[in-house]
Amino acid sequence: MNPFKYGTIVSGKDFCGRKTLLKQIIGYIESSQHIVILGERRVGKSSAVYEAVIKCNEERLLYVDLLGIKSIDALCRRILRAIVVLEQKTGWFDKIIKTLSYLRPTISADPITSMPTVSFDASVEMKANSIPEVLTLIESLDKKRPVVVVFDEFQDILNLEDSHEALAILRSKIQFQGDIPYIFVGSIRHKMDEIFTHHDSPFFKSAIPMTVDPLSYEEFSEFLKKKFIRGQRKIEDKVLEKVFEIANNIPGDIQQLCEALWEVTLEKEIIGLDKLKNALELIFAREQKSYENYINLLTNIQLRCLMAIAKEGGKSVFSISFMKSAGFNNPSSVRRAITRMLKLNILFEIGGEFRFINPFFRAWLPYKG
Ligand SMILES: Nc1ncnc2c1ncn2[C@@H]1O[C@H](COP(=O)(O)OP(=O)(O)O)[C@@H](O)[C@H]1O
Ligand SMILES: [Mg+2]
Repeated sequence: MNPFKYGTIVSGKDFCGRKTLLKQIIGYIESSQHIVILGERRVGKSSAVYEAVIKCNEERLLYVDLLGIKSIDALCRRILRAIVVLEQKTGWFDKIIKTLSYLRPTISADPITSMPTVSFDASVEMKANSIPEVLTLIESLDKKRPVVVVFDEFQDILNLEDSHEALAILRSKIQFQGDIPYIFVGSIRHKMDEIFTHHDSPFFKSAIPMTVDPLSYEEFSEFLKKKFIRGQRKIEDKVLEKVFEIANNIPGDIQQLCEALWEVTLEKEIIGLDKLKNALELIFAREQKSYENYINLLTNIQLRCLMAIAKEGGKSVFSISFMKSAGFNNPSSVRRAITRMLKLNILFEIGGEFRFINPFFRAWLPYKG
């Protein structure tokens, strides 16, 4: 079986390193400090937080994923669902269902996993005044047994029309829950900054910021090599170095490429550089449709700009030499093209550099595009 995992939270034996970070997070949990966890997409934020909390005690984790929420109603539902999931584990299920009877919860078995799932009456729309109620429910859980609340992809709360109001209510309630540690996780730096470092934000300086960086080559490459060896394959160092380079050192992308390398090789094989091409082609084949969708969304000018970034990197996109190679003669048209591609989530900005969100799309462009 392919030992590489990507796109999901990894824990236990699938979790590599980060001893110091885990210790710090656990320390903050124990002293009921609120923290903000920042870092790029797929770097390992969710996994680190999950691992830290379950190392304390699995039954404490109230994990709320805010990815893609669009309304206060959705925010409340996500929190309630997380509460139900936690209570399922700890046997308070029936009681919580009673408490939530005004939402007419229906419990059914998931057809595939046969785990109980719960859905709430869609005709009841929760508004801002439900937020304190839902948070009070968290408090009552905490009285039975201490909880740790994790809000993942927290920046998506800014998508709400009334995000400022939602944040203000959340903050004012959380402020009086001194014993409950809240962990806010987010990948979109400028949005998280808007929440935690702008003076007029209700969450201004309300939590201690921590950054999750990529795992070091030394630590992570050893971990990956062992996985190959257990599957009776040997990977050459120069291949792994190239894998890290293509993936920009991002653990999730590194594991994705290793997964593909595994798929295109056999037991007893020594994996050399020639196999990288096959592995990338496998990824391209799987992802081709989404690359083509992106390309269809772009004008010729935008595509030219993207190709130039793929070839030359996105550090100095306003330099004469970059503009020349992309065929632009003024920086404002470069800026317009880039703004559009940031919006489409093709590129993101980090420390003044523009990078591809998906490094494999970057690798595919000059090859096929
Ligand atoms: N500590 C780790 N050990 C091994 N793989 C990791 C680790 N952290 C992240 N990964 C890889 O990255 C992927 C994404 O991790 P995740 O925690 O979901 O990242 P994030 O929340 O930052 O987007 C995982 O599926 C795994 O492939
Ligand atoms: Mg995550």
